[in-house]
Amino acid sequence: MPTTRSEPHDFKEAPAKLKGRVAMVTGGTRGIGAAICRSLAAQGASVAAGYSQNRDRAEEFQADLAKNDIPVSLHQGNVGSAEDCRRTVQEVIDHHGRLDILVNNAGITSDKTVFKMTEEDWYRVIAVNLSGAFFMSKAALEHMVERGTGRIVNITSIIGQTGNVGQTNYAASKSGMFGLTTSMAKEAAFALKRADKRDPHGVGITVNAVAPGFIETDMLASVPEKVLDKIRSDVPLGRLGRPDEIARVVHFLCADASSYITGQVWAVNGGQDM
Ligand code: NAI
Repeated sequence: MPTTRSEPHDFKEAPAKLKGRVAMVTGGTRGIGAAICRSLAAQGASVAAGYSQNRDRAEEFQADLAKNDIPVSLHQGNVGSAEDCRRTVQEVIDHHGRLDILVNNAGITSDKTVFKMTEEDWYRVIAVNLSGAFFMSKAALEHMVERGTGRIVNITSIIGQTGNVGQTNYAASKSGMFGLTTSMAKEAAFALKRADKRDPHGVGITVNAVAPGFIETDMLASVPEKVLDKIRSDVPLGRLGRPDEIARVVHFLCADASSYITGQVWAVNGGQDM
């Protein structure tokens, strides 16, 4: 029997679960972030993609989506800078008139054993992966509480749960996102209550995390093939994941109908944590 590959998204068949919503995805122009942008757009959302440096790549991504009549706005900024985060969130609100969904996807690695890891390696990874998610969410949450609705999804990692040799900085940043997610989920609910905007039948504000296993993107480009083979053999499903398999869970959590799911970590890892 031939196997069926779940190909990314048929824009023409869009069920439009997110029609009228505006979504911002940090690191949204490549890898998992690009798949998330495509998937949210396929569900009818207007999409704003953040990127850090590579303007040409961002424009290529924009042009590629334009072929399917999907307009994507681009927003340059370093998520490790609180000022850039405030500016880019405001840019999206100015451009699209609102912000309903924030996906904190931008992330980096700088792998070394503890003994070789410099202060710079430590702080840079924490700044982008953990502080970036906090700065972006802080800017977005204020606006979401004013509107009474919103979705924040933090892209963490299986490494935040298991740890990994050579990744103390990355693992700490990703497990830090678990506490960030649950605390913000509680605060968002509390802020809505305080603002008297809680509606038992409404969409509300939810904050969740998605924890991918090992996914085929540029992030794994520097991992030796021998190590990748070992990872594949450790995964019950016997392969690496694909970016669209992460994106699918993100758009599910962003839908209005996911209004009773908050403060949760969704593992998407081929069963690697069993
Ligand atoms: P990638 O390296 O292909 O993409 C990372 C994105 O983050 C890029 O678009 C990059 O421009 C952006 N970025 C990096 N530094 C930034 C900064 N200072 N400011 C703004 N944007 C910045 O990686 P991939 O694989 O697509 O990863 C996306 C997310 O998924 C990351 O948070 C990563 O930690 C996480 N993840 C990835 C896994 C994998 O196996 N690929 C596994 C588990 C989690």
